[in-house]
Amino acid sequence: RCRGPTAGDKMNPFAEQEAWEDQQIGKATLKFGSKNKKEMTDDYQFVFEDQIEFIKASVMDVDKFGDKMSIESPKKSKAKSELAKLQENRKALPIYPYRDDLLKAIEKNQVVVIVGDTGSGKTTQIPQYLHEAGYTKRGKVGCTQPRRVAAMSVAARVAQEMGVKLGSEVGYSIRFEDCTSGKTVLKYMTDGALLRELLAEPNLASYSVIMVDEAHERTMSTDILFGLVKDIARFRKDIKLLISSATLDAEKFSDFFDSAPIFRIPGRLYPVEIQYTKSPQADYLDAAIVTVLQIHVTQPPGDILVFLTGQEEIETTEEILKHRVRRFGTKIAELIICPIFANLPTELQAKIFKPTPVGARKIVLATNIAEASVTIDGIKYVIDSGFCKMKSYNPRTGMESLQVTPISKPSAKQRAGRSGRTGPGKCFRLYTEFNYISFDDNTTPEILLTNLASVVLSLKSLGVHDLLNFDFMDPPTVEALRKAVELLFALNALNKVGELTRVGRQMAELPLDPMLSKMIVASDKYKCSDEVISIVSMLSVGNSIFYRPKDKQVHADNARRNFHTGNVGDLIALMKVYNAWRETNYSTQWCYENYIQARSMKRARDIRDQLEGLLERVEIELTCSANDLEAIKKCITAGFFPHSARLQKNGSYRTMKCQQIAYIHPSSGLAQEPPRWVVYHELVLTTKEYMRNVTELKPEWLVEIAPHYYQMKDFKDAASMKMSKGQRNGAGNLTVINLVPEAIREIALEL
Ligand code: CDP
Ligand code: MG
Repeated sequence: RCRGPTAGDKMNPFAEQEAWEDQQIGKATLKFGSKNKKEMTDDYQFVFEDQIEFIKASVMDVDKFGDKMSIESPKKSKAKSELAKLQENRKALPIYPYRDDLLKAIEKNQVVVIVGDTGSGKTTQIPQYLHEAGYTKRGKVGCTQPRRVAAMSVAARVAQEMGVKLGSEVGYSIRFEDCTSGKTVLKYMTDGALLRELLAEPNLASYSVIMVDEAHERTMSTDILFGLVKDIARFRKDIKLLISSATLDAEKFSDFFDSAPIFRIPGRLYPVEIQYTKSPQADYLDAAIVTVLQIHVTQPPGDILVFLTGQEEIETTEEILKHRVRRFGTKIAELIICPIFANLPTELQAKIFKPTPVGARKIVLATNIAEASVTIDGIKYVIDSGFCKMKSYNPRTGMESLQVTPISKPSAKQRAGRSGRTGPGKCFRLYTEFNYISFDDNTTPEILLTNLASVVLSLKSLGVHDLLNFDFMDPPTVEALRKAVELLFALNALNKVGELTRVGRQMAELPLDPMLSKMIVASDKYKCSDEVISIVSMLSVGNSIFYRPKDKQVHADNARRNFHTGNVGDLIALMKVYNAWRETNYSTQWCYENYIQARSMKRARDIRDQLEGLLERVEIELTCSANDLEAIKKCITAGFFPHSARLQKNGSYRTMKCQQIAYIHPSSGLAQEPPRWVVYHELVLTTKEYMRNVTELKPEWLVEIAPHYYQMKDFKDAASMKMSKGQRNGAGNLTVINLVPEAIREIALEL
């Protein structure tokens, strides 16, 4: 069975990763169909020790191609301005011949479902058509994207096509960044950003059209938007709704929106040859690297797009590829490696869209962001790992984890299709055909896979109380909703009858996970909001703060250890990093010297600025505890007490709430000397259950901070330090109270 490394393999023990890399060096490429090593030149022979055999399986069924291509034959006038050229490109897009019919359909119907292959021009053109047709005189045209990279890059493209500055007539809005102005009429935004706007403007009065784009992705926010905009459309007859999708299963959208008409834009895909591996691959990263090099040395020009699962994996692959390419020297053509993932800094995104210089080959290492959200021209080869990173949520235990899981069949087709946009393409699937047959037929909506606490908090603050009867396209289970209500109740965001409390209203204002929001709200009491927002900003950047170059690992580890002095825990260490950087007046040189990624720090600073602005809105004073670590740890506990865990005799931890076995992640500063009690930020399920970003706590804090959640038998004894050794080890005297009586949970849901 084709098993890839799980998410954690690659982010965890560095030594392991290094050994793995060494193993790869000098290892092999593969053979495609009939090609074998004898056909290669001697120069490359030394790398061919191992082979992956691919079998040509099929040519993907494609839409008829060609008949629409001759609509415009651009005259080649050298004097043509950049803008005129862009206008010509617009007219060459598959959607252009349908411009007028589409506008008519929108005129006639309040809701239209639009289906068209990726690259046909839905995202960049439809809002412009609407603008040209006068819709923006009545209000903005808002277009939602599931991912921030897509929202930004598409807005930039449209601004360019319209010849305006980004942020003026065309702008974008994503979490922690608003690039719009009073002039903005075309607004691209993440689906989450529109949800937040709904809090301030429940009827979307400033919009004339809302286009929910990439609907097929079925992100949690998109699913919630479906229910909300459907409701708005009922009482705002003047608003138009467009639901656009890149996959063909549009009937479901149409059914949900009361049989809205479906407008199909015929695709323009070239044939794509599908190849499967002959046998299952033990390690898809290895297989991907080998395949890239093999394509590079044996196949005609054309860029390569590789689908991997996440940022860390992509960065590892980039590093290994660079390393191996260096060994070839000038024997092979130039290889331009471009990573793309959701957290990629803006300045690095441009590289992906730049045309490849003649003689070179571009290789794009992407997450499933490149499946549909982002269109990259010039791709001729696709390498599909067959995996993506998916949230999975167990409503029974209330545990959420990020897991590398096989993709669905529609996903695999969509990935393959990326290679056939500019000419016939090839897709190398790093799994067998038999494996493909076992893939799911449908993409599971995120709402069924995730912790719903933030959804419930948003809905409650939008005035939606009857969660059970909310118009979900695919309703989550009652159990999942109940768990969410229970968590929000535990965090004091909801009262016993399920209404938002003051704390809940404050939390809803913050664009963060409820537990992080709670941490900030609690910082008011402990007078350390300055430190806490630094921690939250650093956590929001993701796991890309510390930098560990292969040749300077010892130095990097020493530098990192400095921030962990006194076993302060990972969150406080992040705060120390931020504070130290701030003291140097945000010096890039300092980052360099301390093996810290400067661009991640800059992003943390931007996020922090935003959060500082939001503090005022939620009436929290900016206060600094001047390094009162206990106060800060208590804040952390106030947000994360449901994530407490206790050390066992065998060195593992047991979570208090679900009695789940877990381990401290090897990247943690506390991994060497595990404390008795910890709270963790997240639980990552890889080869083991790993707790990431852990902080030590005292069990009595749990009782002090969350007396409605924890109780300690003989707590008085414990407090007066008369505990026996067994008790101090936490031997069973702390228990989780079964919070919300069943009846109240039902009421909370049905209120
Ligand atoms: O939304 P859809 O996938 O249907 O297409 P689109 O995103 O509107 O892209 C249409 C075309 O615009 C693509 O084929 C690209 O050539 C171009 N484009 C671009 O050059 N840069 C972007 N950031 C987005 C689109
Ligand atoms: Mg699009």
